[in-house]
Amino acid sequence: MREFHSQTIIEPFRVRSVEPIRFTTLAQREAALIRAGYNPFLLHADEVLIDLLTDSGTGAMSSRQWAGMIASDESYAGATSFYKFEAAVQQITGYKHVIPTHQGRAAEHILFTTIAKPGDVIPNNTHFDTTRAHVEHSGAEARDLVIEEGHHPRLIHPFKGNMDIAALRQTITEVGRERIPAIMLTVTNNSGGGQPVSLANIRAVSELARANRIPFFLDACRYAENAWFIKTREPGYADKSPLEIAQEMFSYADGCTMSAKKDGMANIGGFLAVNDDSLAAQCRNLEILTEGFPTYGGMAGYDLEAIAQGLYEALDEHYLRYRIRSIAYLGEKLTAAGVPIVLPTGGHAVYLDAREMLPHIPPLQYPAWSLNNALYLLGGVRGVEIGSVMFGQQPDGSEHAAAMELVRLAFPRRVYTQSHVDYLAEVILEVYNQRGHLPGYRLVSQAPVLRHFTARLAPVGV
Ligand code: F0G
Repeated sequence: MREFHSQTIIEPFRVRSVEPIRFTTLAQREAALIRAGYNPFLLHADEVLIDLLTDSGTGAMSSRQWAGMIASDESYAGATSFYKFEAAVQQITGYKHVIPTHQGRAAEHILFTTIAKPGDVIPNNTHFDTTRAHVEHSGAEARDLVIEEGHHPRLIHPFKGNMDIAALRQTITEVGRERIPAIMLTVTNNSGGGQPVSLANIRAVSELARANRIPFFLDACRYAENAWFIKTREPGYADKSPLEIAQEMFSYADGCTMSAKKDGMANIGGFLAVNDDSLAAQCRNLEILTEGFPTYGGMAGYDLEAIAQGLYEALDEHYLRYRIRSIAYLGEKLTAAGVPIVLPTGGHAVYLDAREMLPHIPPLQYPAWSLNNALYLLGGVRGVEIGSVMFGQQPDGSEHAAAMELVRLAFPRRVYTQSHVDYLAEVILEVYNQRGHLPGYRLVSQAPVLRHFTARLAPVGV
C-alpha cells in the first residue's frame, strides 16, 4: 500500500476534557454591551460564545503539561521545576541567563527600566502595545520601522513583519548608537498582522546591530509560529526542524523577552533571557524587587513545569501545520466572499480591515471598534480592536488616527475546532452584509495610557 496524504489537516490531538460555552440572545448581548460601556474588554467571559480576544494564556494544555504540574517542585529557591524550565529555554534560545517573570510585560518592564532612559530611541518592526508603553514609560521613544509592504493590508509578501533595514540604518545614523540602548524585533509581528520575519532579515538586523555595538533583542512570544513560516516560505529551510530554525533565529540576537502565554503554551508566565553577565545581574536585582526570587520570578513551580513542556509542544510540526492552516482556512473563506482582511494570513489571528470595510466611519469614530462590537452583537464573537482606540492616544495627550484600523480575531491554541471556525465565517459574512448600518463610536471616558482596556464608549448619536 502507498502512503496516503489527506487533504484535510486534522486537529493533532483528541479532546478528553471539555468546557461548555454559553449561548445568549441578541437582547442579552445588547444589554451586556451597554453595561460594559460598549467595550468588549469589560464583558463577562460567559457572555461570549467564541472568545477570540486573545491567543494569550487562553490555550488548552496537554496531558503532559498537567502531569508536570502535578509533579512540580514549589521550593522558594532552587526548585527542580526552575532548572527544567531554564534548561528548556537555554536549549531553544541558546541564551546564558534565564530570568523568569510572571508574564511578558514584566520582562519588558525589567529590561527597559534597566537599559532605557529619556532621549533614547528603541527601534522595532512594530512595538506591541505593552512594549511601546514600557519603552515610553522609561522616557524613551518607541520607533516602528516595519518594511513598507507591512503597511498595506492586501499586499502579498512572505515576510511582511520584516524590519526596514535602510530605515534602521538611517535611524542609527540620525540618532547615534549611544542613544539606542537596544534594537527589538517582534516575531511574529503581532500589531502588524501576525506577520513573520525572515531569517535573512533577522540576520541583517543582527549584522547592523553588531557593527554598531547595539544590543539586539527578540520579542519572542510567537517564535514557533515564526519558525514555521520560515520553514514553509524561506528558501533553504524546508528540511530543517522548527527547533533548528528557532535556534538559528535566537542565535542572531543577544537576548529576548518572552510571554510564555503564547508559544509557551501556558496560561501564565514569561521570561527575559540574555547573554550579557552584567545586564543579567542588574535585571535580577530588579526582578527580586518586583517579581520574586530569580528561580521563580512571579510564577509557581507548576507554571515553570507547564512552560518547560509547552515550549517544545509549540515546535511540534503536526501542531504548527494545523495551527497555521486553521488561520489560513478562515482567511480563505473570507477572501472568497470579498471580506477585506490582512493578507497573507499570519500566525495566530485573522485581521479584518475595518477601514476598507466601513468607509462611512471616519478613523476617529473608530471603525474597527464598531466592527468588533457588531461581531459580538450578531454572533457572540469577541475579537479585539487594533486601531485608533488602541493606538490613537499620544503621550502628549493628543489623538491621531492609527496606521491601520483592524479587528484581530486571535485563536487560542488547541481550543476551537473546524466547526467553530465555520460558524465564525458565517457571523463575519453576515456582519459584512449589514456593514452599511454600523455606527461610529465616541469616547465617553478613558485612562491616560493603554486606554482600550478600560475606556467607555457610545455609538455616535446615542
Ligand atoms: N509582546 C507581544 C508581541 C505580545 O503580543 C504581548 C502580549 C506581549 C509582548 C506582552 O506579553 O501579555 O504576557 O504581558 N500580547 C497579548 C495579545 C496580550 O493579546 O496579543 P504579556
